Amino acid sequence: MLTDRRNFLKGLAACGFAASASRSQSTAAESSAHIEILPDEPIGVIAPEIYGHFIEHLGGVIYDGVWVGEDSKVPNEGGIRRAVIDALKAIHAPVVRWPGGCFADSYNWRDGIGSATGRKPRTNFWGGTDPNSFGTQEFLRFCTLTGAKPYLAANLRGLPAWDFQQWVEYCNSPAGSTAGAKERAAQGHPEPYDVRYWGVGNESWGCGGNFTPEEYATEFRRFTAWVPQYGRDQHLDLVASGPSDYEVDWTRRLLRSLAEKGQIDSAYGLSLHYYTWNLSAGLTTDWNLGKRDALQFDELEWYELLAQGNMMDSLIRDHWAVMAESDRRHHIKLIVDEWGAWYKPGTEINPKSKYALSQMLTLRDALLSGLTLDIFHRHADKVAMANAAQLINCLHSLMLASEDQFVLTPVYHVFKMYMAHMGARSVRTEFAAPPVSYDRRGQPGTLWGLQGSASVSGKSLTLTVVNPHASRALEAEVVVRGATVASGTGQVLTNTDLHAHNDFQHPDVVHPEPASVTIAGGRLQHRFPPASVTSLHLTLS
Ligand code: AHR
Repeated sequence: MLTDRRNFLKGLAACGFAASASRSQSTAAESSAHIEILPDEPIGVIAPEIYGHFIEHLGGVIYDGVWVGEDSKVPNEGGIRRAVIDALKAIHAPVVRWPGGCFADSYNWRDGIGSATGRKPRTNFWGGTDPNSFGTQEFLRFCTLTGAKPYLAANLRGLPAWDFQQWVEYCNSPAGSTAGAKERAAQGHPEPYDVRYWGVGNESWGCGGNFTPEEYATEFRRFTAWVPQYGRDQHLDLVASGPSDYEVDWTRRLLRSLAEKGQIDSAYGLSLHYYTWNLSAGLTTDWNLGKRDALQFDELEWYELLAQGNMMDSLIRDHWAVMAESDRRHHIKLIVDEWGAWYKPGTEINPKSKYALSQMLTLRDALLSGLTLDIFHRHADKVAMANAAQLINCLHSLMLASEDQFVLTPVYHVFKMYMAHMGARSVRTEFAAPPVSYDRRGQPGTLWGLQGSASVSGKSLTLTVVNPHASRALEAEVVVRGATVASGTGQVLTNTDLHAHNDFQHPDVVHPEPASVTIAGGRLQHRFPPASVTSLHLTLS
């Protein structure tokens, strides 16, 4: 098997397909590619939770995005926007993280339970006052309505471990068994909610307390040393606050500190946050100056976003390798619970003060979504969950809403096109295509010419592919090693305008179209248009 693969790669190199940073841009006439899918080389089952979401009390995410209130003229289910529920059900949303983000470490869950009149307005981490109308009961009802599992983030900076344990008791203790269970019953939910995923703080190196890794390890142990599990069949999956971007030092020192106390097994996951924000092509590393506009961009910024987003691949590899230093069995998995594009202010849904951090999402963000999900699939053995930040009216949003207006972004369409990967077995797939070369302010910029992922479930195979080139189509032969392709269907998301996006006035500018699938002799020949995301669903015989 490995010999076959080596020969395959050798053959490609002979054809001149091996990626090279110095290779000049190919012309349309040269543009052909080869994709080899290797079903006998499984990587792992793609955790459905990789298709997770995140909502925070920030700008218009909760209030107006998700929560419109029971008396609203906007169609709702007990105060929750119906369009959001329907859209999440349609993509089988597996998990939603709440209430933050940075907000989580200033949140007291007790302010958001009980009768509507008893809720306590509090100063919001992001500014203004939070009415706390949307609290634990509403969030867990939202999860029930959408079918998503809840992932709660606990306040580690501002509250003692005791409050965390009481929150767990409130959510999970058996009916009638504890004060928390009785409180829950009095508020209309006698049965436990069985919340399995719990984040222990958020960005504890920053807004979550400015801890050192060693200090945080002590806090993590304090919070998790005795968390009631409530029964043999239930267990909590506790997520430790992990690194930002390339901070492997945090990962190394945190896991080392946990290992020194024999506590590696106490963490189910290590969170990793990575935003694609610096589009300055090397000019600056300043958090504000490095950001660019969501809608106005040239080809350089098109490629920079995709190339920076592609760094997710090396981030996962690097942190995973460092984790092995203290966790040789890889008990702890990666939870990428914040990811997406983060542009400079300027494209918010008005008024800006109410919809802080909201931004428009274009075709470019659809490609970023596709390539990121493909990376997660290729690391299905390492990544147990991921949460796009954030679901609605925020950064990398799948939806935008303002009062009775609602629209699905190009990001949403990619999540839908990729759905068949959820729970399927990711298999190794080799892509050979002339790379993209671009001028990075006088330096060579490069990106692969075609990338993606494949997964298998019985006789069904899903192949998803991103062509990042702004103007070059690629004609590819797709071979499934050891199998014959009997039939197939496809979808493609693209547009002649790289800046194409959906807004309230033009909700359907970017949407998937059927893609015809050509099979001859059990092989597939497919044209991947420029600037596109494609999903192919093949039946093997
Ligand atoms: O998603 C917005 C913010 O980005 C989150 O609150 C925080 O965790 C991250 O820095």
